[in-house]
Amino acid sequence: MTTLDDIEIIDPKRFPATVAEEIVASIIDVLDENESCSFVLSGGSTPAQVYRRLSRPPYDDEIDWSRVKLFWGDERFVPQESEHSNFRMVEGTLLQSLSDKDLKYFPVNTSLGSETLSAEDYANTIKQQGYYTDGKSPVFDIVLLGIGSDGHTASLFPGSSSVSDTESICISCDHPNDGTKRISLGPTAIFSAKKIFFLVTGEEKAETLTQIIQDPSVTPEQMPATLYRNASGHVTWFCDYQAAAKLERATSEDNGS
Ligand code: 6PG
Repeated sequence: MTTLDDIEIIDPKRFPATVAEEIVASIIDVLDENESCSFVLSGGSTPAQVYRRLSRPPYDDEIDWSRVKLFWGDERFVPQESEHSNFRMVEGTLLQSLSDKDLKYFPVNTSLGSETLSAEDYANTIKQQGYYTDGKSPVFDIVLLGIGSDGHTASLFPGSSSVSDTESICISCDHPNDGTKRISLGPTAIFSAKKIFFLVTGEEKAETLTQIIQDPSVTPEQMPATLYRNASGHVTWFCDYQAAAKLERATSEDNGS
């Protein structure tokens, strides 16, 4: 279960830099022990500010980016030029600024005939990059995730059969509201990671965040982000003041005893 020290509550003005610092520190730790670092990116709008900060001094020069391999936690089945593409969002906030760093990145190929073919192709990409050693699951070094106000994470949506799929490295699905076709890492590929950072900002996430972290009765079928409870690695929640507003902090901490 998440303990309070796994939750970083951050001034919104400091959110991008604080998260960027943690990401840099984690990548450096991995590269101290390994030839490369696998870093799985989240889509959506929250991480964009972090990617922009990561691509600027001092962080852009604190990492040997040529030893970092970027993957996507999920993608929309749209052309990379689409405004809805997570690749396009990362390209504009991180890749363009680090274009001289020999960064290795592996986007989902959304030019194939279907989202199902894209998911199969991405699973093969992950295997080819060596992150599928034990025949059970890839073990990524760092995974970034967001949550939707319905409790989804990546493209694992409430009520979807993908939530209980323990076999597939990648899944394909339809967004339950707008019907857009999605490709996503499966639960096992996500939650086998060594480190998972959830990035959650805004008051519209406060109720959902509290349910995910503090209500053990909420199930993964109801809120897939609760799958973090069975994560193999370490999970840290990076929340701004608004998103954390409804979290019940330990009384000992509140009264400073
Ligand atoms: C996506 C993301 C998705 C996102 C949440 C939060 O492709 O949209 O993978 O899971 O992280 O929906 O999105 P925001 O950061 O925009 O609130």
